[in-house]
Amino acid sequence: MADARPFHWEYQEPPVQREAVRVEGGRPLKGEVAVSGSKNAALKLLAAATLTGERCRFTNVPEIADVRVMVETLRDLGVVVDHPAANTYEVAAGDVDWLFVPLEAAAKMRASFILLGPLLARFGRVIISNPGGDRIGRRPVNLHVEAMKRLGAEISYKNGYYFARSPGRLRGGDVQFPSVTVMGTENAILAAVLADGHTSIRPAAQEPEIDDLIDFLRKMGADVTRSAPDVIEVEGRRRLRGADHRVTPDRIEAGTFMIAAAVTGGDVMLRHAPTSQLGAFLEVLDRVGVSVTPDGESIRVQGRSGAEYEATDIETAPYPGLATDLQPPTAVLLTRASGTSRIHEAIFEDRLEWLAELGRMGADVDIVDDHHATVTGPSTLRGCELEMSDLRAGASLILAALAADGESLIHGAHQVRRGYENIERKFLDLGARIAHVSEG
Ligand code: UD1
Repeated sequence: MADARPFHWEYQEPPVQREAVRVEGGRPLKGEVAVSGSKNAALKLLAAATLTGERCRFTNVPEIADVRVMVETLRDLGVVVDHPAANTYEVAAGDVDWLFVPLEAAAKMRASFILLGPLLARFGRVIISNPGGDRIGRRPVNLHVEAMKRLGAEISYKNGYYFARSPGRLRGGDVQFPSVTVMGTENAILAAVLADGHTSIRPAAQEPEIDDLIDFLRKMGADVTRSAPDVIEVEGRRRLRGADHRVTPDRIEAGTFMIAAAVTGGDVMLRHAPTSQLGAFLEVLDRVGVSVTPDGESIRVQGRSGAEYEATDIETAPYPGLATDLQPPTAVLLTRASGTSRIHEAIFEDRLEWLAELGRMGADVDIVDDHHATVTGPSTLRGCELEMSDLRAGASLILAALAADGESLIHGAHQVRRGYENIERKFLDLGARIAHVSEG
């Protein structure tokens, strides 16, 4: 035999098309940019449309890879999804052919697990892949599964799949999470709206995307109330109807462009900015010394040049605290600030590793452990060849490259396309030198 090594029958992600982004840094970004619809809201809204057989219509949906994955996953189930115009999607889940969400969907996008609650509640059963595979510790879904069990579901786990069923309608109940979870809260709501009786969810996550979902569910006829900041009450209904909804703007995309203006010493006006959702982040920018002027649905950010920013310590937290998704962009800003800033990433244990790439650009970073790092500045960043490890780290490397001297080539650009609509186009319109490079 030519190769005596044992073959491992493990799922391997199919090779993604290699793409890169080329950036020539050092140009202040200037002009206006419109904030797109929120990724984290749109994905849950599309899933919520399976709660009814009637047509639902969504506008301001971001044209991003994660939305395409959700749409394909729904179509594979037999749900009709039309895309009549850019940023508009219509979903009709009259009949479904399969109640099976495969590993392919879960491997591409963890958020596919949000289909557990609505499919189980409406159809009484679903087989759904564990997005974390069998890995322990990183991104588990145990809290979602426990919540469904509280609502009367029977769930077993075999070969990487959850087999969930409910003998009759789900039953309302008290869902008590041991810690705050965004999608866990959403899955519980999406199951409870069609359950028999009353459900209370606590502590309920307070992210604005959840309130956008609640707004839509109410239009469908659901009875959902946030009775206290961290308590959500649901009175189950037998049926829900179709509804139209405009997706809320993406606060994470808004924050990313604000940092772009700040680190390039630019002057950028954001349109459709969700200012009221950015409180903790705006406080950080204020401490660092970035000039931010909100005006209704617009925010103007005027950056400074040189070492005029001040170091500050940041800590991520569930909403209304500083979003973990804005921690990587903020770290780029801290490389421009005088002094040592401490970063405490309190939510996830894999969100500081990418700082090593920032270090290769000349930033003075020290990754203390999975949850702590320091950044000492100001550093002069220099362009180099980089690799995106995930969506938010990827966007942050682009920000660093925009601020750096010289040219950067950033591989793995499919990561950033998962969650940012037209990112290169938007930066080009602000005067950046940025190009998409296909690597075959
Ligand atoms: C969502 C967002 C993500 C954001 C995160 C935190 C979507 C699609 N994604 O992710 O962009 O960074 O909120 O704001 O909306 N946990 C468990 N067991 C579970 C579920 C979560 O232990 O069953 C842990 C996680 O590992 C993490 C913490 O709880 O440490 C919070 O995670 P969670 O709020 O659930 O994040 P997501 O909803 O997955």
